Amino acid sequence: MDSPELLNAVLAGLAMTAAAQPQKPAKPTIRVKELSERDRRRLLMHFLQLDPDDRLLRFGSMLSDDLVTQYVQRLDFSRDSIFGVYSPRFELVGVGHLAFAPRDAIPEVGAATSKERLGELGISVLAKARGKGIGSRLFERAAIHCRNADVDTLYMHCLATNRTMIHIAKKAGMEIHRMHGEADAYLKLVPADPSSMLQEAVAEQIAMFDYSFKKRARAAMKLIRKLPKFKNE
Ligand SMILES: CC(C)(COP(=O)(O)OP(=O)(O)OC[C@H]1O[C@@H](n2cnc3c(N)ncnc32)[C@H](O)[C@@H]1OP(=O)(O)O)[C@@H](O)C(=O)NCCC(=O)NCCS
Repeated sequence: MDSPELLNAVLAGLAMTAAAQPQKPAKPTIRVKELSERDRRRLLMHFLQLDPDDRLLRFGSMLSDDLVTQYVQRLDFSRDSIFGVYSPRFELVGVGHLAFAPRDAIPEVGAATSKERLGELGISVLAKARGKGIGSRLFERAAIHCRNADVDTLYMHCLATNRTMIHIAKKAGMEIHRMHGEADAYLKLVPADPSSMLQEAVAEQIAMFDYSFKKRARAAMKLIRKLPKFKNE
């Protein structure tokens, strides 16, 4: 057998082996977009949907609707980076709030960095959208954003009982310190490079396109539902 024939035989064998493997259902692609002022109302709707237990896990205390509203009103998009994942129905199902704090503000972690600032992240995913990788993708986006902003330490604070978050943190290689029922996790990040810059810029462009598409589709559906034929159904 000469080389092209051999190559074809190997490729055919590989194709047959692949076809014999049980196929895992493909996970939908998750687009993480940086949010802005125009998303504030949907951010509020997102946080108000978190039940008391989730609010405790996310904010470290049981926030009332009023306090959640105040938190959303105070979000400063020019200072912090707030990332979101929209569902195909244009519902904000996942949010990551990345704030940059002076390193002295968190002494337990501040010693780990020589940079002026460190990144502090809080994540929430609506109960109906969990287990699909949205939380992990929000985490990854925050990490690459920190790298590109010359921040080398990403910090998270959570309850020590928050097994899902601790699983995500461990999977990302975070160092975790538990004390008094709480856990501090932090990740040392490698410096930015052209590839991390390009990766984030491309991801944001694609997410922006996806966002506009879902937004228009949602508006079109609203219009269609107002047509007499659909109104009476
Ligand atoms: C924590 C949270 C953001 C995770 O979101 P998510 O979209 O479900 O996360 P993902 O789907 O990316 O990952 C979940 C992972 O945790 C694992 N997991 C789920 N429940 C678990 C549990 N009880 N113990 C250990 N691991 C668990 C899943 O198997 C999955 O692991 P894998 O990626 O290795 O398969 C979400 O549960 C949430 O919003 N909780 C309330 C708020 C909160 O706790 N925020 C974190 C503190 S800031």
